[in-house]
Amino acid sequence: MVVVDEVFKTIRSVPVLDGVSAEFPSGAVSVLTGPNGSGKTMLLRVIAGLVRPTSGSVEVDGRKLHRDAPFPESIGILLEGPAFIGSLSGRDNLRALADLREGVSDAQIDDLIARVGLAGFGRRRYRTYSLGMRQRLGIAAAVMGAPSLILLDEPTNALDDEGVVMAKGVMRAVCDAGATVIVATHDADVVQDVADVRWRMAQGRISHVTGEEGRRHE
Ligand SMILES: Nc1ncnc2c1ncn2[C@@H]1O[C@H](COP(=O)(O)OP(=O)(O)O)[C@@H](O)[C@H]1O
Ligand SMILES: [Mg+2]
Repeated sequence: MVVVDEVFKTIRSVPVLDGVSAEFPSGAVSVLTGPNGSGKTMLLRVIAGLVRPTSGSVEVDGRKLHRDAPFPESIGILLEGPAFIGSLSGRDNLRALADLREGVSDAQIDDLIARVGLAGFGRRRYRTYSLGMRQRLGIAAAVMGAPSLILLDEPTNALDDEGVVMAKGVMRAVCDAGATVIVATHDADVVQDVADVRWRMAQGRISHVTGEEGRRHE
């Protein structure tokens, strides 16, 4: 579970995050919607520990970022434009990332590659991947090793219809396994099909979307 408490982030006197307080439960997919520039990516960066808020705090599973630990202990992230090494294959990129963690086997990497629809492409160099294939590898990297916190920024960007179905299935599966999943998206299909909880951002502020619209269950 992630608890964001009164987070402000001011960049060159512009309030990019303007008093954001929100809770993101584990075992659920929380979706962030809102117009371009409303602060979704910045909030994900703050939750990941990549950006330090000007004030306010973020707690991940009871540990305060920057006080108890610089980063969440177990995290997978897909931010805009996943960064992989072009000269390595998709599979070797995942292997290199897996080596930074523990207990991800080659067999699990191959399963993951198949799961995101890259079977047959795993051994091709990343630089030859299409945009959609890169996004698929980014999704694989974010969920690899079953992290307890998974942050996905526009995960369905550049995906074809089948890719969107895959991404929704992956989000559902990791949250059913107990992860805290936070997704920034414009994709109405994702909001409709996988959002357990909805938050809307506008001009650096956040509000809970409640009622019929906000909940997939009930
Ligand atoms: N490094 C930065 N320096 C200055 N302004 C930034 C920086 N990163 C983001 N911003 C500004 O913060 C606001 C929120 O951006 P962002 O979180 O990327 O929005 P969203 O993801 O909702 O489209 C935008 O106005 C953007 O211009
Ligand atoms: Mg963004």
